[in-house]
Amino acid sequence: MGKIEKYKEVDTLPNVFTESEGFRKVFDNLRARFNRVIVELGSGHGDWLLKYALDNPQDLFVAIEIKGDRIWHGAKEAHTKQINNILFIHDDALRIEEYFPPETIDELWIQFPEPLPKKKHEKRRFTARNRLEAYYNLLKPKGKIIFKTDEPQLFKFTLEQLKDLSGFQVIHRDERFDLHRPNTGPLSVPTYYEKQHIDHGREVMLLILQKH
Ligand SMILES: C[S@@+](CC[C@H](N)C(=O)[O-])C[C@H]1O[C@@H](n2cnc3c(N)ncnc32)[C@H](O)[C@@H]1O
Repeated sequence: MGKIEKYKEVDTLPNVFTESEGFRKVFDNLRARFNRVIVELGSGHGDWLLKYALDNPQDLFVAIEIKGDRIWHGAKEAHTKQINNILFIHDDALRIEEYFPPETIDELWIQFPEPLPKKKHEKRRFTARNRLEAYYNLLKPKGKIIFKTDEPQLFKFTLEQLKDLSGFQVIHRDERFDLHRPNTGPLSVPTYYEKQHIDHGREVMLLILQKH
């Protein structure tokens, strides 16, 4: 199926949401039936999150991705295979606050986001201070942000954003995560981009933050 067809079909799938009102109704109803809520920003095809969802049927998963032809892959597969513990938001992840009520997210995954190196795009970076403050409100107490990148400048920028930002504790920091990957759990599974970076010999940096 071509890119245009994917774009046409993606928003017709029942597990894809393009506006917050419709999403909230479904989300509020579903979250009462699941244990944890796990969200991924910029999920690409959504294959990594789909695997995590399949391994954890007791939890509810939400992928947010701006490109319709990418999110189509995960959404189509989940719909076809009737995987009911994952939803897809086809929208800008910078609008996450519109979709989720406060204190509803247990884990927020940010994996290999666009580095947006230009200064004028700083506030649009997924780990800019204004974004971290927004995530703080959306996370449950003890909720976590799991951030991975192969961009040293973005990693450094993120650490700087955390300075004087009370509310989060750095519970894990690893500048050579590619050498220390665990054997089990979601961190044992590299994402699509992560595999490419590793194949090209790039270093993967990991930061895990926990809300107090
Ligand atoms: C480098 S890819 C990483 C994809 C995936 N996380 C992985 O590790 O394989 C970044 C993804 O973020 C998406 N993206 C970029 N800006 C976005 C935004 N503002 N809101 C939602 N998704 C965005 C892109 O379309 C792309 O799919």
